[in-house]
Amino acid sequence: MKTYLIEIKLNGEWQKAEVTARETLIEVLRNKLGATEVKNGCGKGDCGSCAVILDGKAVNSCLTLAFQANGKEITTLRGIGDEKKPHPIQKSFVQKGAIQCGFCTAGMVVSAKALLDQNPKPSRQEIKEAISGNLCRCTGYEKIIDAVQDVALESKP
Ligand code: FES
Ligand code: FES
Repeated sequence: MKTYLIEIKLNGEWQKAEVTARETLIEVLRNKLGATEVKNGCGKGDCGSCAVILDGKAVNSCLTLAFQANGKEITTLRGIGDEKKPHPIQKSFVQKGAIQCGFCTAGMVVSAKALLDQNPKPSRQEIKEAISGNLCRCTGYEKIIDAVQDVALESKP
């Protein structure tokens, strides 16, 4: 099968990958670029667990073809923060009890980060809209919304 060389700026570092025209971004991120923090929930655009930030916008990487990301910048959960240096959003999720099974958390944090980058002081309604593509079976969403709102309230004007 014909392959194409693409280049992606992944969490600040340019990386190359050989991809076919049909390969999805999540396949390439997880299987070729080691970004296993991108979670594959439904694989068909329903759950949001595979969300990444692509040129400033949260997208479902299972619905994005890898070559569409060629030459673009991608931020995954790992690029937002990790155990050693957690982002305020991640700390807030822990403090607010917004993580139960954790299945949705990677995508939720990515969607929250994309929102706060664009709109540092979102309303509760805007937070709900930003995470509307992310399914959570455990928390009832309120604690997640509280966690994002706390970060927004604590950010400088
Ligand atoms: S894995 Fe992509 S939306 Fe569910
Ligand atoms: S914490 Fe379990 S799905 Fe959200």
